[in-house]
Amino acid sequence: MPISFNETSRIFKLDAGNSTYAFLIEPNGYIAHLYYGGHVDSDAFAYLYRKRDRAFSPAAPGTTNVESRDVILQEFGTNGVGDYHAPSAIVRQGNGHNVTNFKYRSHRIFKGKPSLPGLPATFGKDDEVETLELSLYDEASDIEFILSYSTFDRYSAIARSARAVNHSLETVRIEKLASMSLDFPSDNFDLVHLPGAWARERAVERIPVPRARTVIESVRGLSSHQHNPFFALAAPHAAEEAGEVFGVALLYSGNFAAEIEFDQFDHLRAQIGLNARTFEWKLEPDAVFQSPEALLVYSDSGFDAMSRTFHNVFRNHLIRSYWKDRERPILVNNWEATYFDFNEEKLLSIAKDAAELGIEMLVLDDGWFGHRNDDHSSLGDWFVFESKLKGGLGSLVKKVNALGLKFGLWFEPEMVSRDSELFTAHPDWCLHVPGRGASEGRNQLVLDMSRPEVVDYLFKTISGVLDGANIEYIKWDANRHLTEVGSATTSPDRQKEVFHRYVLGMYRLHELLLQRYPKLLIEGCSGGGGRFDAGMLYYAPQIWTSDDSDAIERLKIQAGTSLLYPCSAMGAHVSDCPNHQTHRTTPFETRGIVALSGTFGYELDLNKMNDGERRMIREQVAAYHQYHHLVADGELHRLTDPFDPKTVVVVWEYVACDKSEALVTMVQPRNIPNGPVYRVRLRGLDAKATYELEGSGERFSGEMLMKAGLNVPDFDCDGAAALFHLKRI
Ligand code: GLA
Repeated sequence: MPISFNETSRIFKLDAGNSTYAFLIEPNGYIAHLYYGGHVDSDAFAYLYRKRDRAFSPAAPGTTNVESRDVILQEFGTNGVGDYHAPSAIVRQGNGHNVTNFKYRSHRIFKGKPSLPGLPATFGKDDEVETLELSLYDEASDIEFILSYSTFDRYSAIARSARAVNHSLETVRIEKLASMSLDFPSDNFDLVHLPGAWARERAVERIPVPRARTVIESVRGLSSHQHNPFFALAAPHAAEEAGEVFGVALLYSGNFAAEIEFDQFDHLRAQIGLNARTFEWKLEPDAVFQSPEALLVYSDSGFDAMSRTFHNVFRNHLIRSYWKDRERPILVNNWEATYFDFNEEKLLSIAKDAAELGIEMLVLDDGWFGHRNDDHSSLGDWFVFESKLKGGLGSLVKKVNALGLKFGLWFEPEMVSRDSELFTAHPDWCLHVPGRGASEGRNQLVLDMSRPEVVDYLFKTISGVLDGANIEYIKWDANRHLTEVGSATTSPDRQKEVFHRYVLGMYRLHELLLQRYPKLLIEGCSGGGGRFDAGMLYYAPQIWTSDDSDAIERLKIQAGTSLLYPCSAMGAHVSDCPNHQTHRTTPFETRGIVALSGTFGYELDLNKMNDGERRMIREQVAAYHQYHHLVADGELHRLTDPFDPKTVVVVWEYVACDKSEALVTMVQPRNIPNGPVYRVRLRGLDAKATYELEGSGERFSGEMLMKAGLNVPDFDCDGAAALFHLKRI
């Protein structure tokens, strides 16, 4: 039984993959955390329940000094009764106070896992996942919190969330709600997280957890480029292949906060959830509020294994799309080829080349609607720019389809330009605060997605476009962050709900579209990878990783992203050189090898390719078809670290789950003249098997490749790259 409750010791034991999590109901009714780590058979964890009398650690009513909330590790940090750590929830009651005292009320354990209304969540069949719902109750306020823990049988992963129920006769305000709170006994940890910015998303940073509260957060309305809703706590000696790592991701696309803090006794509390700086929820009598879900992953063998667990859970238990296990079409996107300057003739000429080269889909990016010829107008006017695309979308799509290509289209549903019919008709549909104007970002305003009529309107207009032509893919962009987050139809006492209601509205629009067009492939995007989070993966199985398409920069961006997100979700394209973001020139072959690590495509003007480049495109297309199953479904091993200044060659390896084949990519960002000779040890192969190298026919034992390694070629220029395919014989 993955989840058990021992009636005598009152201990809950949760087993997930090779991890175990345990807590107990204390005699006073609180819940004490006992253990999270590698799998343990026994459930005799009671000895870990440590009480101690400490100065300046007050005892809550009904407890003794040795049971102070300041001292005991907890599952749910309660507020105002001596737990000086970050509380799991803050509930402001009618009397103005926010003290709460949540204690055990009941629990239920059941097979499977319920979905979360209106929110993304992992799922699993009854024989794959089991759930514990633990009800905690605060008698004085008559508020209940139900903590949910779902354990995955095959993976060391536990999904957690919390839901509040107001049983009282008065309205209360939830001022904070963490999706999960995790207490660790005294130990040292490194914190690993993914800070970044536009065009340099998700750079891995690793720092010792300081003796000061650390907050990783977004207040930008979207999960953002700046931080990712993820952190890991790692043993100081943990490395790619060794050491304990605890990874935590939030399945949410708006403002979040992760709080990590050592207390004065070196206990560490880590939380993740909605960001209390920008959140509040008025909970009326009998109302329920559901937090977003957090996913906890345990690894006893380093970051590589943590990443693979995240990848597997996201691929098998979060992404729902029709495209989940299907090979995604190789696309060519016209953005960097034409920007706003295109017409039907130009698009068809790109499509014609694409068809000849084996590319499978044309994506028409920004500028096809309203009267948009630059980024100053027309967002919100989702009808075709007739004078630019003379025959309309229907005719263009038919012609593209006739060439054998699918057709995809760019939208930025959540935004509106002042210069648009939509804004003229509904000026109050944008987020704004009366009397304060509205800040512009990229010359645009943000629609108030918290308003149902706005979401309904967008559903209607976008459906109209999708019904009018055979559009099989949409790129869903969001090119600015939120400001003046006020909603014209929301009462003053609920304005602090708008950030969260915005995200719920944005999710609802995705859901409506997917229900109506179940085969639609949605690629998420926000100025590149500004909303690359697990929440979006529930709706969009792929996300444009970064507007920085430079192959050398992508080595870092894709490595940071791969810490938790699978390669099957990473939009990666071959783009033009000199690169539009870095002005660097990288060999065409290298750009192809780097883009093969994601959902493959092109972001350049195919009409301008010379014969050599056209030949390479054909080879890259063939390579994608040949190897993509390894990238999408295989196990990723990051053999060298692009963030380490000592790394000379960046090497990734994908191994088929049955170890029958492996793909190895090597990229040398900068040449070292007269440089050293390297080899790199592979991982995850069948030691006893013999593998043959495609092309040369050389044979190696799996053991040899893992112990002695594969030779790195004698690269002789900046940005040189090579690809190796090994097959078990
Ligand atoms: C964002 C996207 C780009 C492109 C432009 C269009 O920046 O990330 O790929 O779609 O918008 O305006």
